[in-house]
Amino acid sequence: MSNNIEKYDKLTEKHLATIHRLTRQMSAMSDEENVLDTLLNQLIDETGAEVGAFIYYDQEQDRFIPRSIITRGIPSNEEINFSQTVFQQILKTRQAILSFDTQSDSNYQNAQSVIINQIHSILAFPLIIKDQVYGILYFDSRKNRQHFNEANRQFLSLFSAIASLAMEQILTRRKYENENIILRNRLEQPSRIPALIGESPVMQKLFSIINKVAKTDVSVLITGENGTGKELVARAIHDLSDRHDKPFIAQYIGNIPATILESELFGYKKGAFTGATADRIGLFEAANGGTLFLDEIGDLPFELQAKLLRILQNKEFKRLGENLIRHADVRIVAATNQDLTQLIKEGKFREDLYYRLNVVRIVVPPLRDRKSDIPLLVNHFLQKDNPDMQISNAALKKLMDYNWPGNVRQLENIIKRTCIMAANSTIEPEDIQLDDLEVEASNNLLPEKLETEATLEEIKNYIIKRRLEQFNGNKTRAAKSLNISLRALQLKAKELGL
Ligand SMILES: Nc1ncnc2c1ncn2[C@@H]1O[C@H](COP(=O)(O)OP(=O)(O)OP(=O)(O)O)[C@@H](O)[C@H]1O
Ligand SMILES: [Mg+2]
Repeated sequence: MSNNIEKYDKLTEKHLATIHRLTRQMSAMSDEENVLDTLLNQLIDETGAEVGAFIYYDQEQDRFIPRSIITRGIPSNEEINFSQTVFQQILKTRQAILSFDTQSDSNYQNAQSVIINQIHSILAFPLIIKDQVYGILYFDSRKNRQHFNEANRQFLSLFSAIASLAMEQILTRRKYENENIILRNRLEQPSRIPALIGESPVMQKLFSIINKVAKTDVSVLITGENGTGKELVARAIHDLSDRHDKPFIAQYIGNIPATILESELFGYKKGAFTGATADRIGLFEAANGGTLFLDEIGDLPFELQAKLLRILQNKEFKRLGENLIRHADVRIVAATNQDLTQLIKEGKFREDLYYRLNVVRIVVPPLRDRKSDIPLLVNHFLQKDNPDMQISNAALKKLMDYNWPGNVRQLENIIKRTCIMAANSTIEPEDIQLDDLEVEASNNLLPEKLETEATLEEIKNYIIKRRLEQFNGNKTRAAKSLNISLRALQLKAKELGL
């Protein structure tokens, strides 16, 4: 697109030496995130920027997603917004942007975030891979008087061309590695996971995903209703991973005050607060080499989200009341039954953290979507807790007709309760007390009314809602599965207030 030949007349020998060093470092690294974080840190040093970020461009959804954000001298609780105007411009022109005095730059008069954050200077480059904009390397300078100059621009321009090539190599290599992992897994894959009972197709699919991700080191986000077995899935991932002989530690996040949670997770130094009578290590250190399971991650207090992000990005953290930077190599598996994208919209959950946690998503299906597993589960619970008891077919049918809003945990509890109340050693339908309240709640979920009374429109709406739930609100995937256009689904979802 540009015929004008790039000039590099402002580059000093020191610049070239830095480029040489960074290029060598990049070629030795195989992990995309590692490369990006290292790059950002060094480029911030080089340019004196206050914010450096890699913004991934998701082509399918046509949106920009911040993958790494590194800041200097900005309080960690301050929100970092980006100017979409800048990103769109780069996407359109595929050219670097250098804005010396952004506040009075007429290009950005309407760009809200530039104004809000009092950004003085912006320097941003596309990373182009296989002729597509893969992402943007972005730097800005805010309250600080530092402005970028032509030398910075030339340096980054040369550098981003080299970085694009290096990234392309890494991505290609990773693609082959992933294919290899998948192939290997096909050969090794046990078709069941002992702790997880179930043979239904949805569970088979779940086992296969667990087997695949267990062999990698990526963060995993497990979603699903209460009692579906999210914690069991997290454990299975750990047990099947190379980390299996290192600790698996689970921490419940919900409703724990931020300061207590912070000292649990990161540890503290003696004297950090009243009552801190000795140094104490936190769970990240205790889990070093292993897996940390963060349950109900949606409840993580906002001020701790930045700290979790940091450890995910750099494996770095500090104990409370201590200045020393420590390192821990921990795989994070998080779970939630909340809709995190909704929390993001409400400003309660950091989007960048979400993308870090959600590298792989595992959706644990509700029990009503795998009712064929109920007999297996019932026998499993009987054998475990009441090996002398049996169950009649009629009683099993009663269980299979129910809708299980509390999922497997509810089933387990009802079996326990029934064994205590049962008249003799075989459970009959009349021994089983299903909570009225629960039946009512579950009936609302049942499409029975739909079958006999609903209009076609209502049935359609119901299916669309369900499908969106199944895909965790991912409209692209839901639209694909329904064989309708994304646009049609978006319109429908809007109409339904979803
Ligand atoms: N597939 C399964 N096979 C055997 N037991 C299961 C299965 N799924 C769940 N359970 C049992 O059901 C109970 C609930 O499971 P778990 O605690 O993993 O669910 P959860 O999704 O984490 O629930 P919550 O959202 O309430 O925290 C546990 O006692 C667990 O052993
Ligand atoms: Mg749980």
